[in-house]
Amino acid sequence: MIVSKQPVLKKFWYPVMPLSHLKDRPLPFTLLGENIVLWKQEDGSVACIKDRCCHRTAKLSLGFLEEGNVVCGYHGWTFDAAGVCVKIPQQPEQAVPQKARVPAYKTQVKYDYVWVALEEPLNDIPDFLEAGLPGFRQVHQFYETWNIGALRLMENSFDSAHVAFVHRGTFGDVQRPQVGTREMLERPFGFVSRQSAEVKVRGDLAQKAVQTGDGTTTRRTESEWFMPFIRRSSIHYPHGLIHVLITCATPMSDDKSMILQWVYRNDTEADVSTAEVIAFDRAITFEDKLILESCEADVPLSIVDGAMSETG
Ligand code: FES
Ligand SMILES: [Fe+2]
Repeated sequence: MIVSKQPVLKKFWYPVMPLSHLKDRPLPFTLLGENIVLWKQEDGSVACIKDRCCHRTAKLSLGFLEEGNVVCGYHGWTFDAAGVCVKIPQQPEQAVPQKARVPAYKTQVKYDYVWVALEEPLNDIPDFLEAGLPGFRQVHQFYETWNIGALRLMENSFDSAHVAFVHRGTFGDVQRPQVGTREMLERPFGFVSRQSAEVKVRGDLAQKAVQTGDGTTTRRTESEWFMPFIRRSSIHYPHGLIHVLITCATPMSDDKSMILQWVYRNDTEADVSTAEVIAFDRAITFEDKLILESCEADVPLSIVDGAMSETG
């Protein structure tokens, strides 16, 4: 499955950048192969239109902002949030031609990120249980491009069989390759999977998990897949810590995805610092990245690549 062959993917919300990145200039992003430009309007709301001026095709993201609109850096044509050209500076006396416009896209701000849908979305941005729940803090972890098809990350997120091997340097244990049973529940736009697993506890103990004499702890995980490329994984440790990972693979192209990850935790900065929380998941995520970037972008939907997928 490669994203460019699935037009339905345009009908979903994707987080494209932290809201904090939008300051006083337009910024580009590539979503599902579409070049888009985002900026913050004067009232603080976010606008998003195609990053292609309808005059001579220059990228509008190379321009600048003026009174809440984006000004093309080539000849100064100016566009509003609806993608309508509202000013041609060389012809101040003449009406702007009606066809001088570019496509505009829906935006929302949620969880401190800007979300974009290229077409009318089929569902809402997921509601994450812990967002805003008393006693939980939000820690932003990563915003970075990986050279992978977005589905690779989602498959990996629900693939217990990789943990013992890919994560042998952190919490995996090659001596325990078996995967436990899971409980699966289907949802309208995804599924929930519940599982308990024994894992190794690392020396740096960013999780401060209770460990047994052999250096393991048992953690209970509830993971939820929100179509198409969002995962919420709520990890419960025996001593009460809940570490909830929100991981999004926003498809930029067939072989490139923006990976965004943040967590909710029911502890405090005094218990475990933000830097430690990031460092713990950082090490694990790099292990996944190395392997996933070595895989091809086209994700087979059968167990064995090649033979099975080619013969059906
Ligand atoms: S290309 Fe944008 S104003 Fe000319
Ligand atoms: Fe992993």
